[in-house]
Amino acid sequence: MTKITAVITGIQGYVPDYILTNSELENMVDTNDEWITSRTGIKERRILKGENQGTSDLATRAIEGLLEKTNTNAEEIDLIICATTTPDMLVASTGCIIADKIGAKNAFAYDLMAACSGFLYALTTASKFIETETYKKVIVVGADKMSSIIDYTDRATCIIFGDGAGAVLLEPNKEGLGVQDSILKSDGAGREFLHMKAGGSIKPASHETVDAREHYVFQDGQPVFKAAVKNMADVSEEIMLRNNLSAEKIAWLVPHQANKRIIDATARRMGIGDEKVMLNIEKYGNTTSGTIPLCLWDYENQLKRGDNLILAAFGGGFTWGAIYLKWL
Ligand code: UT7
Repeated sequence: MTKITAVITGIQGYVPDYILTNSELENMVDTNDEWITSRTGIKERRILKGENQGTSDLATRAIEGLLEKTNTNAEEIDLIICATTTPDMLVASTGCIIADKIGAKNAFAYDLMAACSGFLYALTTASKFIETETYKKVIVVGADKMSSIIDYTDRATCIIFGDGAGAVLLEPNKEGLGVQDSILKSDGAGREFLHMKAGGSIKPASHETVDAREHYVFQDGQPVFKAAVKNMADVSEEIMLRNNLSAEKIAWLVPHQANKRIIDATARRMGIGDEKVMLNIEKYGNTTSGTIPLCLWDYENQLKRGDNLILAAFGGGFTWGAIYLKWL
């Protein structure tokens, strides 16, 4: 019997129009373009403006483009998994809202929360539904309106994040293309260094939590940076070894875009040159669940059938992981 694999048959991204530049940030907090560029590699990020605009709007725009591009009717979709850290609301799920907005009447949908590793977790989960022949058309969307949870008075955090979404269509393949392997990891002890203090069940919203600015992302950058460098490089090396992949055999590293220095360290450990590393952090910043599909979207024209790709991420939780896939 031929093995069924889950292959990406379409990719589409969406970023909002508004560009928040380093120079605009200079007017908001005590920072400068030189510091941001040298410490992170970021020049600008996109921000979703306007009333009643949330993560589902970013995701919906990406998915509408995806459906058009792949000539797919929304009613053909079996499942939508939305990786997000910034759901439209806690009840109902953003996946359900997206399904309603795009008219995916026959799909069931849910959210998956794994911070910056969300897209990898969701892609791995979705691929199992395809490999087991449970479903034939699954959309995985990574979408975050990070500007909704960022404190624009905290200079160490606000310079990093931006808004955006990327979506892929996953379908069965009998030629051995698509998702080959994945390694996913987590360590909840890391929550000390990256979390949002209030708004959840431990500390529901109150006047006090708002006054204390506890509804924003708290990040202690240094320990997160160290853990990201170590774990993203470790897991990328592990997936290479497990699949007998030398650096020469890898066409592209598709890294989560949190900090160019973390990306460089991962590529160095894998022995991969800069020319094989997807990078768009300079124009979008860290869009959390959106970074990896937005990279694939930006580099789509350079991807060839059979290319070996390593996707790698590290984020809040802590969560991290790597996926090995062959491009269609
Ligand atoms: O994607 C989810 C996972 N998140 C990450 O992977 C992020 C990991 N962390 C990082 O990328 C980095 O830690 C940051 C970019 C957040 C910060 O860079 P850093 O090189 O670790 O800086 P730092 O926090 O150690 O701060 C160094 C100095 C401090 O000043 P002093 O104490 O040395 O006088 C900060 O106050 O830089 C100062 N600083 C800034 N200066 C200008 C912090 N933020 C800024 C700023 N502009 N925006």
